[in-house]
Amino acid sequence: MRKYKTYATAVLMLLVAACSKEVIEQFFGFKTPFYFPATTYDFSSNHVTKAGFELGKTLFYDSTLSIDNSTSCASCHMQSSAFTHHEHSLSHGLNGSLTRRNAPPIMNLAWNNSFMWDGSVGKLDQQPVKPFTNSIEMGETMPNIMKKVNSSGMYRSMFKDAFGTAVATEDQLLKALSQFMVMAVSKEAKYDSVQRGQAQFNTTEKEGYAIFVQKCNACHSEPLFTDNSFRNTKLPPNDLMDSGRYVATRNINDLYKFKVPSLRNLGYTKPYMHDGRFSSIDKVLDHYNTNLFSISTDERSKLKAFLITLDDKIFVTNPLFEKGMGH
Ligand code: HEC
Ligand code: HEC
Repeated sequence: MRKYKTYATAVLMLLVAACSKEVIEQFFGFKTPFYFPATTYDFSSNHVTKAGFELGKTLFYDSTLSIDNSTSCASCHMQSSAFTHHEHSLSHGLNGSLTRRNAPPIMNLAWNNSFMWDGSVGKLDQQPVKPFTNSIEMGETMPNIMKKVNSSGMYRSMFKDAFGTAVATEDQLLKALSQFMVMAVSKEAKYDSVQRGQAQFNTTEKEGYAIFVQKCNACHSEPLFTDNSFRNTKLPPNDLMDSGRYVATRNINDLYKFKVPSLRNLGYTKPYMHDGRFSSIDKVLDHYNTNLFSISTDERSKLKAFLITLDDKIFVTNPLFEKGMGH
């Protein structure tokens, strides 16, 4: 009997070891695809670990961090729509009130130089302070948020695992959120398979790619599909009189310039533009055709075929980014 018990315990321990090994092996940390440029995010002061990533994810999905427990980062940045606000032109927040802009995707942010449509935030580690404290978004204060996490046993142990300290600091909380956000790398679209030599464009996609290189790539530069610059695409100002980059710089030359958005995952991120004014890619192309450069009907269908190769189904369904998985 005793012998049997020892044997059973040994089998059980082996099973536990095998399971936890599997979980650890699923987490590969941050990697730059070989055909991407060097990252801009400072990993030397915030190395991505599994514990830090899991903590960041838990914070990202936690609506108790808002003033009335209603809103989390994920309320406006939903994985199924490439971390944008599905079908909302202007994102809405507390009590249904409207923000001023369309929520951009949380995607490939380790290569960004600045954040927000007007570039008003320079560092990813600083970005979450805005939604946490904005009265329309989460309506909290940073000291209150730190009080909430430090009075939670779950968070205290997660912060300890991630950073080794007994009391969580604001700096650690922001770094954990960054760890989650930089891991959101979209690199599994058909375009990426072609870059890696694992697939080929069909004829229409290839022709669409040639038109893209000629007409779009100067701003939407591959492989990230943005050159991180601010441009005026001659959209008439909206009712909110959003003057774009000018809001951040007060430089008259920046009036109505907006951050060039990536074109990855357009199939999941509509509506489009800084205020979500266009409900389809066709409407965006109508605008370009009227105001910037001509696009023929034939070019348009080829261009659209190429743009579809930038949709990354694995990114929007990857369980790694889902709420409550993996811990
Ligand atoms: C109420 C909706 C809402 C909530 C909640 C929200 N966001 Fe956002 N987020 C937005 C909008 C809208 C923008 C664009 C703001 C702008 O350009 O002025 C944005 C922009 C961003 C950006 C910049 C992306 C880029 O490409 O420049 C990041 C990063 C981000 N949010 C992360 C977060 C995090 C982290 C949280 C939680 C702490 C959060 N957001 C909560 C709506 C929201
Ligand atoms: C001069 C630079 C420039 C060129 C050239 C350009 N774009 Fe853009 N594009 C932008 C900017 C800036 C925005 C954001 C405008 C805004 O929100 O006010 C944008 C927005 C978009 C959007 C909306 C994306 C989103 O997530 O909201 C799409 C789609 C798009 N462009 C496709 C194209 C295509 C296709 C071409 C080539 C036919 C092209 N663009 C050429 C600068 C450019």
